[in-house]
This record gives sequence, structure tokens and C-alpha cells, in this order.
Amino acid sequence: MTESVIEIKHPLMQHKLTLMRCKETTTDNFRRLLREISQMLAYEVTRDLPLENVRIETPITAIDAPTISGKKLCVISILRAGNGILDGMLDLLPNARVGHIGLYRDPETLEPVEYYFKVPEDMAERLVIVVDPMLATGHSAAAAITRIKMRGATSIKFVCLLAAPEGVKHLQAAHPDVPILTASIDQCLNEHGYIVPGLGDAGDRLFGTK
Ligand code: URA
Repeated sequence: MTESVIEIKHPLMQHKLTLMRCKETTTDNFRRLLREISQMLAYEVTRDLPLENVRIETPITAIDAPTISGKKLCVISILRAGNGILDGMLDLLPNARVGHIGLYRDPETLEPVEYYFKVPEDMAERLVIVVDPMLATGHSAAAAITRIKMRGATSIKFVCLLAAPEGVKHLQAAHPDVPILTASIDQCLNEHGYIVPGLGDAGDRLFGTK
């Protein structure tokens, strides 16, 4: 793995991730934990945002104090499980614009098929954070990023909860300019395209559909 993949080893995040992996964890707890971890992922993915000083007055004195400058943010959720990360990200980044991309995996080929695409117009002006809890084969993430680039985005980061080494390899090969942030790089994919040990189907667990 190259340094363009960052595995965040914060103890709080690892603890919450373990709770998410447990098959007994209820839908409401799963959703809350993903939201909490996503707030931490938002903290990490914005770590290198540029700052500029502005003149302010505290009740005591005037100072030059740092504020975020540079590109505005856009968070793009890969439907539907991406919405679980989106909620936590927006807790921390309330001014970010939001886009959605609908892709499903063809069960035979495991290739992504697009059914929805809606993103802000000024993509070239923004740092784009693409979110999906599970980086499995990497095909959906790579296809989503290709579409986003076609809309003019040049500054893109990918954030997931779990990544399979296969997915990381595929995404890096397709988009070497896009850094990947994750809470864990797991062992492998199984024959059904699920991450091992993983946490099962993130969308089903998030929305209670199974
Ligand atoms: N999508 C999921 O929800 N889980 C996996 O393990 C892989 C892809």
C-alpha cells in the first residue's frame, strides 16, 4: 500500500468499528456508530485544509485568527450506504454542498451500473470528498470518481469505513491522484464480493432492510 492510503488507527474509531462489526449490533446503534465514526473521518479528511488569518476582536483584544480558506467543500455520497457517512460528515461540515451518485453492483459481473447522478455545478471550484462505507472491488468508487472528474472536479479524496486490499489496488490504479482514507484495511474479498471480516451489507445494516 502506498502513502496515498491512510488507515486511521484512533482508539475511539477502532472501538466503535468493532461494535459495528458485531452481528448482534442493532440497526439504531449501527447507524449512530457510523455517524460518530464519520465525524472523525471528516476531521481527518480535512486535516490539511489551508488557513488564512482574519482580523477579529475578542472581548479582550484584537487578534489575527485562523479561518479555513481556499476551495469550498462538496461531499458526494455513493448511494445508498454512502448516506450513512454523509450525515456524520455534514455534522462537522455544515456548509458543504452535497451530491449523490446511484450505482448498483451487477450481481453477476460485480461491475457498477449507474442509475442516478446529481452533483453541484461548480465542481472545479471544490474539494470533493466521495464517501461510501465499503471499498470492496473498488469498481463503484472508480466509476463514481470518473463521472465526477467528467464534471470538472480536480481535487478529490475518497473516504470509506472499511477497505479490501483488492479495492484499494483497483482504485489506486484507476485514480492514482485520489487519496483514500479508511478506518481499516481488512483481509480480502470473499467469492460474493463481501469484505472479510467486514461487517456484512452496510446498506442493509444501516437501513434495516434485512
Ligand atoms: N458492500 C457491502 O455492503 N459490504 C461488503 O462487504 C462489500 C460491499
